[in-house]
Amino acid sequence: MKYTIAVIPGDGIGPEVTNQAKKALDAVAEVYDHIFLYKEVQMGACAIDKTGVPLPEETIKVCKEADAILFGAVGDPRFDNDPTAKIRPEQGLLQLRQELDLFCNVRPVKAYHHLLKNSPLKKEIISGTDVAIFRELSGGIYFGRKELSKDGKVAFDGCQYSVDEIIRIAHLAFKAAQNRKKKLTLIDKANVLETSRLWRKTVAEVAKDYKDVDLNFMFVDNATMQIVLNPKQFDVVLTENLFGDIISDVACVIGGSIGMLASSSIGKENALFEPIHGSYPQAKGKDIANPLASILSASLLLEHLGLQDEADAIQRAVEKSLDLGITTKDLRSKNQTFTTTSKVGDFIADYIENQEDSN
Ligand code: IPM
Ligand code: MN
Repeated sequence: MKYTIAVIPGDGIGPEVTNQAKKALDAVAEVYDHIFLYKEVQMGACAIDKTGVPLPEETIKVCKEADAILFGAVGDPRFDNDPTAKIRPEQGLLQLRQELDLFCNVRPVKAYHHLLKNSPLKKEIISGTDVAIFRELSGGIYFGRKELSKDGKVAFDGCQYSVDEIIRIAHLAFKAAQNRKKKLTLIDKANVLETSRLWRKTVAEVAKDYKDVDLNFMFVDNATMQIVLNPKQFDVVLTENLFGDIISDVACVIGGSIGMLASSSIGKENALFEPIHGSYPQAKGKDIANPLASILSASLLLEHLGLQDEADAIQRAVEKSLDLGITTKDLRSKNQTFTTTSKVGDFIADYIENQEDSN
């Protein structure tokens, strides 16, 4: 089959890691006889430099028409250190999420056997962790009304959610739970926030369609503690935009490195796949960044296209690289050697091709 994939390398290490994901996809194409047609477009600081805006029209058009989108990272210290900057690289990503209505962000958190020693958390606490974080991605405080008073002394960010916005992601989260351990935890701040109370009421209503799933609620402050104290208590976690952003970064500690976490952002018509890490500008061009989150995002992309065997082939190759210690520096344990971004990508691609040959 032939698929069109919009590729947005973005800023910092984005281009380096997406290149490795493309190597993995090319290996899959070779073995399973597919054609992946890449259409590269720009977003973020690189787009601002070239066109003046973080999300050019052309990028939106190509993404809308593609079968799936593979994205690297956006962000640049030039903008981070300037609070007065009106145009920022991150606006490109936020606008794309909204333009394509990518409302459901799934972030799987797994403790890989070979990386248990990499986490600062105790092995017995994290071993066996398998959590799917469902983060609402196109609403909430990220997209609410924003204001700064004329004298610059008062700022306002509004948080708004509608029942419809909650229902549509809740259904996806419950369906996922049905195929997993049948447990769903809604994380909110219902003791304080009106929007959280609406989430609780609505999700409890949706739960009536999923009687086989055990629903429970947890306040976000407690949840950020629980996810490191006892991550195995979670199966599917459902939460709003800002809480999901924070909780997923905390949960990275379980995976041993932020360089391991992939994500999918699903809308009705489009889907985007990206590592959850940022643009890591200090590592740009050094061939040292961990490409596995991007490679695992390519695996999620294949799964989304219905290519499960192909997605599994990438997963197996990633596990093998961890098994053999063919990893970047962030995953190295004491005295172990490490390799470069591109060599990890080469190994993964090679393994996909040769592993299937030997079958
Ligand atoms: C993420 C990122 C983004 C977010 C930034 C880059 C806008 O942190 O995808 O988690 O806050 O959603
Ligand atoms: Mn984040």
